[in-house]
Amino acid sequence: MKYGYFDNKNREYVIERPDIPVSWTNYLGTKDFCTVISQNAGGYSFYKSAEHHRITRFRANAIPLDRPGHYLYLRDEDDGNYWSISWQPVAKDLDKADYKVRHGLSYSKFKCNYQQIEAEKNIFIPLDDDLEIWDLKIKNNDDLNRQLSLFSYLEFSFHEIEIDNQNFQMSLYSAGSSYQNGIIEYDFYYDPRKYHYFTANFEADSYDCIRDQFIGSYRDESNPIALERGVCSNSSKKGGNHCASLNKKFNLAPGEEKRFVLILGVGGREKAKAMRKKYSNFQNVDNEFARLNSYWDEKLSNFQCKTPHQDLNTMINTWNLYQAETCVVWSRFASFVEVGGRTGLGYRDTAQDSLAVAHTNPDKTKERLIQLLRGQTSGGYGLHLFDPDWFDRDSEEIEFESPTVVPEPDLDDLIHGIKDTCSDDALWLVASVCNYVKETNDLEFFEKVITYADQGEDTVYEHLKKILDFSAVQIGITGICKGLRADWNDCLNLGGGESAMVSFLHHWALEIFIETANFLNRDQDVEKYSEIAKQVKKSCEENLWDGGWYLRGITGSGNKIGSKENKEGKVHLESNTWAVISGVASKKRARKAMDSVNEYLYSEYGLHLNAPSYTEPDDEIGFVTRVYPGIKENGSIFSHPNPWAWIAEAKLGRGNRAMKFYNALLPAAQNDQIEIREAEPYSYCQFIMGKDHEEFGRARHPWLTGSSGWAYTAVTKWILGVRSDYQGLIIDPCIPSEWDSFEVKRKWRGAEYNIKVTNPDNIEKGVKEILLNGIEIAGVIPQQEEGSVNEVKVKMG
Ligand code: IFM
Repeated sequence: MKYGYFDNKNREYVIERPDIPVSWTNYLGTKDFCTVISQNAGGYSFYKSAEHHRITRFRANAIPLDRPGHYLYLRDEDDGNYWSISWQPVAKDLDKADYKVRHGLSYSKFKCNYQQIEAEKNIFIPLDDDLEIWDLKIKNNDDLNRQLSLFSYLEFSFHEIEIDNQNFQMSLYSAGSSYQNGIIEYDFYYDPRKYHYFTANFEADSYDCIRDQFIGSYRDESNPIALERGVCSNSSKKGGNHCASLNKKFNLAPGEEKRFVLILGVGGREKAKAMRKKYSNFQNVDNEFARLNSYWDEKLSNFQCKTPHQDLNTMINTWNLYQAETCVVWSRFASFVEVGGRTGLGYRDTAQDSLAVAHTNPDKTKERLIQLLRGQTSGGYGLHLFDPDWFDRDSEEIEFESPTVVPEPDLDDLIHGIKDTCSDDALWLVASVCNYVKETNDLEFFEKVITYADQGEDTVYEHLKKILDFSAVQIGITGICKGLRADWNDCLNLGGGESAMVSFLHHWALEIFIETANFLNRDQDVEKYSEIAKQVKKSCEENLWDGGWYLRGITGSGNKIGSKENKEGKVHLESNTWAVISGVASKKRARKAMDSVNEYLYSEYGLHLNAPSYTEPDDEIGFVTRVYPGIKENGSIFSHPNPWAWIAEAKLGRGNRAMKFYNALLPAAQNDQIEIREAEPYSYCQFIMGKDHEEFGRARHPWLTGSSGWAYTAVTKWILGVRSDYQGLIIDPCIPSEWDSFEVKRKWRGAEYNIKVTNPDNIEKGVKEILLNGIEIAGVIPQQEEGSVNEVKVKMG
């Protein structure tokens, strides 16, 4: 069963039937103002922080699904019949009304055709104004004159989400609303910095600022009393629940089209007046929308591919990057699952997300890296979950505009020492920092002095050494890194027990650092960290090989995790993939380990995280043993580590296997199986129910997942094989043998590279010849002049 299709030309996903059993969301906003919106216009907005500066209300995980939202209703004044421009909330019979939604890059278009009235609402957030535009066009396709009435509706939220959800003593009595000259202002008695407004390019014929006046008692958004009466009750007051309904009556002659612009913004009445004036001019609306499209054109043009795999092209050229960017910009705190209860950066999440978009968003990547370095303690570990604004308020390079958004922190509340530390968090940062420099050539970044979260400061380069030193001493009795509160797997809580994955990660980070130290001629560091790397490798190879695959860890009392000796949790994905990626595993063991991954963890929907699932609680292993089998960290197809397996296979030169794994997880490939997948086919999801669950194949938690960045990295850098290095651009593809050729357009350090790879012998890996602008070169492609366009021909063999 399917609900829509990919329109690659327009870079949109077109939903042809909005009655999907779950919400399919999109993200609007590229900087500070964000709206998460579904195919039914349900969703919410916030400014900078979904926790501390919420703008509109959303009742998450509730029924009816997706309420409330950013709605427009139309009413036929002749017969009183009314409908909404998104299918919900009125939900007209889909046999009588045609609804289509186009989720595009930072905009969503809702189209509705009902009783000869065609309406389209394009909703987007301009690049540089803190507001959301609803650009509405309505056309009369009837041969009769039509008298219509338009009503907007959204529900304002108290700015602190916790107060809005729980403390009605406060939320109901300290926020108010008023209407004047076409502008609704939502204000807070005690804080003018949190005002919001809603306005339009027309004077309203009637309005409501009070939710219960617009909706009416014992009604909901599907049948508001105002629509039934055909008029709002001009309500506003100090205190209460507030909404924004502006009503306008208008006439449409046969064939006539009218355009309205409605605006939801941050700020008070004066700001609203200025923005109303600006966007009452349709040319400004069109210009801002065009600028938004160019913004994405520019980003996407940094990497475009043409391969024989259409779904891969669709994902890599548009959706996968879009999702990866979304994770870097909004981190993990705003979706329909994470509804804003937590603000901040998950240390390891943002460190990994930042790996993916250095070429499309170097500024944001750098900003995130600085924030993470500021969230690193002088002891070398990262604060697992922290609000970067705690530290940004003193920053010179990161704008900190709204000192009231985040409460002043108390350092003792933030830094809890080793007991609260995750053993992997900061290790990811080593790769991300080096990757950023390889991409941008911003070598000075290594010398930048950045404070630690607790005390003191150091250059970025020294920060990285502290991270490596921390893992070198936080080891258990076999020399493998301790698991501490958790490693990448939040539910593997080993404490003093040991984590194979973290030792592999440590080795990976060490190798990347040694390469960097070499490049920077820091000979003593090369020597010191090479020695540590040698020791880590030795400990891993001596203690973690289980015969057919690598262990996942060792409990505090010395029991193996992820061994043939175990009844449950015998094979784990993370340790085996990282044994290979880190360069620890010998070729023979690496191939065997990945063969075991294929044998024990593969399914048609992707690779399971571990198998068989745990059914018996074991607190030495952790919370993973208390999660239902087949769900999340206990035996689901956890998406995030899946691309690690594609990278591992690519490193082993097995392009066919890498592609087999890639295809299994590929969201676009499940477009026609929504009865199984349920979730968006344009987004990777956090996990897919595993074999041990009755809903095997069902995808859950779209958008904010590390799988987006890693999927993008795995395909672009390891399968298509184009990756930046300090000295040049590496081209090292590992592809399915059936591919005869593929092309990549890559921008790197200001120059363009049109790369054409041919595969005459149908192999999986190996490069025989590289021609740069007709001249044969050996090794990497050296950086070319800024602005130049270069032809690169690569022959595999
Ligand atoms: O690695 C974590 C991530 O930090 C948050 N979501 C779950 C992942 C696996 O436990």
